[in-house]
Amino acid sequence: MALDNRFQASMMHTDTTALIHTIDFLLMIPYPKKSAKLIMGNPLWRRLSLILISFLIALPLYATPKQDQAAFRKHYQLVFPQLKLADYANGVYAIDEIARQSWLAIEEFPPYETAIEEGKKLFNTAFSNGKHYAHCFPNKGIADEYPKWSKTQGEVITLAIAINNCRTSQHEPALPYEKADMVNLLAYLSHTSRGKPIHVTIPKNDPRAMSAYEQGKAFYYQRQGQLNFSCATCHIQNAGKKLRSEILSASLGHTSNWPTYRLKWGEIGSLHRRFAECLTQIKAEPLPEQSVEFRNLEYFLSYMGNGIPISGPSTRK
Ligand code: HEC
Repeated sequence: MALDNRFQASMMHTDTTALIHTIDFLLMIPYPKKSAKLIMGNPLWRRLSLILISFLIALPLYATPKQDQAAFRKHYQLVFPQLKLADYANGVYAIDEIARQSWLAIEEFPPYETAIEEGKKLFNTAFSNGKHYAHCFPNKGIADEYPKWSKTQGEVITLAIAINNCRTSQHEPALPYEKADMVNLLAYLSHTSRGKPIHVTIPKNDPRAMSAYEQGKAFYYQRQGQLNFSCATCHIQNAGKKLRSEILSASLGHTSNWPTYRLKWGEIGSLHRRFAECLTQIKAEPLPEQSVEFRNLEYFLSYMGNGIPISGPSTRK
């Protein structure tokens, strides 16, 4: 797996600096020669100190999600010092002033309005057992909490998966992820959550959650496709620059505005559909919506975007 190491190296920079300071500090501590001989002369101590040093060296390879998030944001702050965290919810329109004007004009009569209405109807329609979605979900705006780690299922549960879990628990067939009913439900649930800051958690008491996050992160930095690009190549290293006629957006906030009505699609579609399209652009194999890879990727990206308000559904070119 070829990882895109340039940015990861810069993400680790802070940790490496901290590590060097720690080692410097340890070396600076004065101790009498005699006790030094006593310590280093003792094979057990020698072995323990070697273990400690290798542990310290390995530390930066295990950056915590919080450290990843800080490095991720620091990078964008340097590139786009004028942006506040919440601005990233608007994707490329936070940085492309000309495109922003036509976007604002479209948003005056948003083409996703019917999707919200249809989604609301579905949400309030009874299942054949007489129960509703409200039996599974509080109707108070919940999109900000997804994706979630499920300890019982041992996997990342996106809002779309949660909707289908609700349906199957009520003996209803699961909805296909790419079809209108699912996307409309997502549009309604996203709309009821608008303005709520994303807050995705990675529970510490289940190492599988951390592993899912790490897999999502690895996928993000993995170079792939015939063009041999990673997500980071375009959305980190080239964010703000032009790719053909389009300015590339930052990945920060990429999970906040879904589902999205894209003029190019002529309809409203999901975040995973957009992931698949970016993979196709670099001539890589697109994965199906709600595949484990895409869910883990969403988990990583949502965690990076914690605190950014939900702005879905939205419109994009
Ligand atoms: C060849 C460059 C390129 C690569 C590589 C790439 N993308 Fe994109 N991506 C684009 C362009 C161009 C757009 C449309 C303009 C924009 O919003 O940046 C876009 C848009 C997006 C959007 C929609 C943003 C919004 O506000 O609606 C998401 C999400 C996204 N990309 C995720 C990814 C992910 C995840 C990967 C890695 C699997 C990836 N992209 C790889 C070029 C790329």
